[in-house]
Amino acid sequence: MLRLIGFGFFDAFGDKFFVIWRMEIAVVNGPNLGRLGKRLPEVYGNKSLQDVESELRALYPLVQWTFFQSNHEGALIDFLESSGADGLIINGGALAHQSYALADALEAWERPSVEVHISNVFKRESFRQKSLLAPQVDGQIYGLGISGYILAAQWLIS
Ligand code: DQA
Repeated sequence: MLRLIGFGFFDAFGDKFFVIWRMEIAVVNGPNLGRLGKRLPEVYGNKSLQDVESELRALYPLVQWTFFQSNHEGALIDFLESSGADGLIINGGALAHQSYALADALEAWERPSVEVHISNVFKRESFRQKSLLAPQVDGQIYGLGISGYILAAQWLIS
């Protein structure tokens, strides 16, 4: 698919060339996050993934957003393999704690990336206190609810 991600133009005197470029950020969510807002609202809050998407689009309308959620490890890896996005926000859900395959896919990502967890995984069961993805991303935000996605976007854009 051909996408227009930017364009260039000369200034009035023809001596400077400006490039306007639209940054693409992929927001990837793993298993069970499609039920955000309905699933354990006391842990994850009442807002849905659609709300996350609407907030990000409203706050950063110039970003080209790509949103992807899957309950399947392979589908997430296929997405990462084929994505040409400039930056990544990823909440792997439980796969963050158990998937070496997803960690390998992230290692190959080689562009800025932030891992987000909506809940404070360190206040929860011990199996949630380790992320296999953490060594493969630039930073991690956890425990701040869906604001984590917004803070991650802010960092990627800056
Ligand atoms: C989560 C934390 C994970 O432990 C859990 O399996 C999830 C959601 C979070 O956003 O807090 O599905 O990634």
